Amino acid sequence: MNAFERLESDVRGYCRTYPVTFDTAKNALQWDEDGKRYIDFFAGAGVLNFGHNDEGMKKALVDYISRNGVTHSLDMATTAKRTFLERFDEIILQPRNLQYKVQFTGPTGTNCVEAGLKLARKVTGRRNVVAFTGGFHGMTLGALACTANKLFRGAAGVPLNDVTRVPFDGYMGANADSLDALRRELDDPSSGIEPPAAFIVETIQAEGGVNVASQEWLLALQELARAHGSLLIVDDIQVGCGRTGKYFSFEGTGLDPDIVCMAKGIGGFGTPMAIVLIKPEHDKWSPGEHTGTFRGQNFSFVAGTEALNYFRDDTLLSAVERKGTVIAQSLQKMAEASGGKIQVRGHGMIYGLDVGDGKTAAAIVGAAFKAGLIIASCGSGGRVLKVIPPLTIEDDVLVEGLEILGKAVAGAA
Ligand SMILES: Cc1ncc(COP(=O)(O)O)c(C=O)c1O
Repeated sequence: MNAFERLESDVRGYCRTYPVTFDTAKNALQWDEDGKRYIDFFAGAGVLNFGHNDEGMKKALVDYISRNGVTHSLDMATTAKRTFLERFDEIILQPRNLQYKVQFTGPTGTNCVEAGLKLARKVTGRRNVVAFTGGFHGMTLGALACTANKLFRGAAGVPLNDVTRVPFDGYMGANADSLDALRRELDDPSSGIEPPAAFIVETIQAEGGVNVASQEWLLALQELARAHGSLLIVDDIQVGCGRTGKYFSFEGTGLDPDIVCMAKGIGGFGTPMAIVLIKPEHDKWSPGEHTGTFRGQNFSFVAGTEALNYFRDDTLLSAVERKGTVIAQSLQKMAEASGGKIQVRGHGMIYGLDVGDGKTAAAIVGAAFKAGLIIASCGSGGRVLKVIPPLTIEDDVLVEGLEILGKAVAGAA
């Protein structure tokens, strides 16, 4: 029995799917301790948008440590935090005409979702929140109540209250308006439905199976929220930070969220950071009201500041568009070869290959891994293969990974 089986809790998950011990990694490649090379199409579930061990971030981190820069600071002011805030404002917010206050929370996605939900409830004085089928927002109780997956919800041990589940775009069929019933209920004073504190939505549901909401649906959702005095929370934790070809996934859609949750890629190097972006008029927190020991992870500020430099011009984002097309075309060929059994969904550099059932998807994941490709499944019953390589993946490595995937898919057909 190895150390992991002997000592680590049965809760461990991904190490069962990828049963090797990883040792080193560079951009979109990882090596296990026996020196076997893998192409990474998983990127830490959307953390490693800039790949493993980015040289600029590595240098900035080593320099910071060498000069005894403060590592831990709770939420005290540090030069590293100031630089991050100033660059975020200069490179991300100002050019997009966005005015948000930044709240640093505990460095996990689930903690910034908790903060966003608490704030929406505080601001509106309401309890209920609307979340969507297929939604994934985290594992702590408030966020878990918004998460749809049965396995995760079943582990709560307590009732998951104060959330109404509504069908996501497309859930009721391509031509149905999935917001129709809720809209009628909210408009009817005798429906028995109270207006919610907030709607929490992913513009592309990543864990939920790469379900892409249409612009029309997102705008209808925003209109519904505004009509009933509810806040719109966009969870951009997995599809923000450039994943869709824009910095924020909602850019260009006409969405103007009241609250935006960001984590994963924002820390740059895989160094953890999570933030809530809050419209200034909703920043109703009292000092210290949502606290957390690790709101001041300075390595994440240092690496995260370097990561922002990728967005000073459109080099990275136009590469995302280009590589996204390569992914889409390759997956489309796999779908065509399947005679309609396989469907492709996605945008930017997040794509899903819906192979119809979890057993087939698991077989493909296993075969791909043996052939040197790390890819994960998602969606209902795990039926969707999710392609989310680092945005910085080299073209030839991307093509090589897609070829491995194509063979694994063909082998499972
Ligand atoms: C959209 C979304 N929200 C929230 C979370 C939770 O983030 P974390 O696992 O860092 O708590 C995730 C994680 O996959 C996510 O994809």
